[in-house]
Amino acid sequence: MAEVPSIAMAYLKVSNGLIHSFGPMDELTIAPTDEVIDLQGRMVTPTFVDSHTHMVFAADRDEEFVMKIKGMDYQEIAQAGGGILNSARKLQETPLDDLIESAQKRVHEAILAGTGALEIKSGYGLSFDAELKMLQVIAQLKQTVDIPIKATFLGAHAYPNADKSAYMDLLIQDLLPEISKQGLADFIDCFCEEGYFSVEDMHRLLEAGEQHGLRAKVHVNQFNAIGGIEKAIEFGALTVDHLEVLLDEEIELLKASDTIPVALPGCSYFLNIDFAPGRKMIDRGLPLVIASDFNPGSAPSFNMSMINSLACTKMRLLPNEAFNGSTVNAAFALALNAEVGSITAGKRANFLVGKEGKQLNSISYNFGVHWIDQVFINGKEFPNS
Ligand code: NIG
Ligand code: FE
Repeated sequence: MAEVPSIAMAYLKVSNGLIHSFGPMDELTIAPTDEVIDLQGRMVTPTFVDSHTHMVFAADRDEEFVMKIKGMDYQEIAQAGGGILNSARKLQETPLDDLIESAQKRVHEAILAGTGALEIKSGYGLSFDAELKMLQVIAQLKQTVDIPIKATFLGAHAYPNADKSAYMDLLIQDLLPEISKQGLADFIDCFCEEGYFSVEDMHRLLEAGEQHGLRAKVHVNQFNAIGGIEKAIEFGALTVDHLEVLLDEEIELLKASDTIPVALPGCSYFLNIDFAPGRKMIDRGLPLVIASDFNPGSAPSFNMSMINSLACTKMRLLPNEAFNGSTVNAAFALALNAEVGSITAGKRANFLVGKEGKQLNSISYNFGVHWIDQVFINGKEFPNS
């Protein structure tokens, strides 16, 4: 977790949008047709991989932010007509094209903040039509955006009416087969939490997801440890995300599994709740991923440098550990490890150039300060406008 290999004075060769080679400067050979850019000693890092976002939504929920400051908590706000159901109502009324346009803008800004691959979840639709609409927005982004995007079906984010069992049937019998037929999802998610979906609900959902070839990436242990981690591991989940409340025996279960833990420090910061015990997880020998959880309710920032900083200050990760957690490890959390996450020959040439004098520690140390000078996506500088 703490090892970030680096070369002090290096070259990086890009060809056809991919990393061709890299090494110490004195080993560089330049062909007459090569274009040369002199970065004058500035740091080059891989772009961030944001493995957990809810990037598609209709509107901000800044009014809930104010309610929170005045003393209401996440669950009280949800009961007062805010929360996930509030986002769902707004999204259901918003046309597909408007959702595409606003999400595209956010992705564009996230790239400028250093993100070079990301995951986006559904889960603000909560009806047959609106969940499909959200996944169609993500499918459209996959076509139009230059970075790799993975889509996760999170129909089980909240239930829109008192009849949860009818909603579960809709998810399993109607939505999943349609999503699978149209190839709209790469993963399946479920918010396994008191007042949302139980461990038994998640069992049914993941079983159905498995039948449609969708691997699990799930929301567990945000407010309560109700057994979601053990169930997710039983289904061979790729990741378990949140983990603000984590039992010692669950750390042991994770160690004995291939399931990757993902911490979301931006959510803990914004909701003013516990942070996942990242230091303890790493000390016990677990690998860790950190992601933004970008969404209008619990984590309205996609700034992965800020997420690195929070992981250091609030979870006691070393800057190197936070960096690995948001690059190379995060690429594994999206099954994109062959494509992004590190400076490796054959991977996409998605990399960041720091401002003069910035080094790896600066990313977390200078919290809230924009350290990135240039963003390269597929070998080309990403336009800053
Ligand atoms: O990851 N925990 C559940 N879902 C989101 C919050 C979504 C919302 O409040 O809109 C999360 O924190
Ligand atoms: Fe989330």
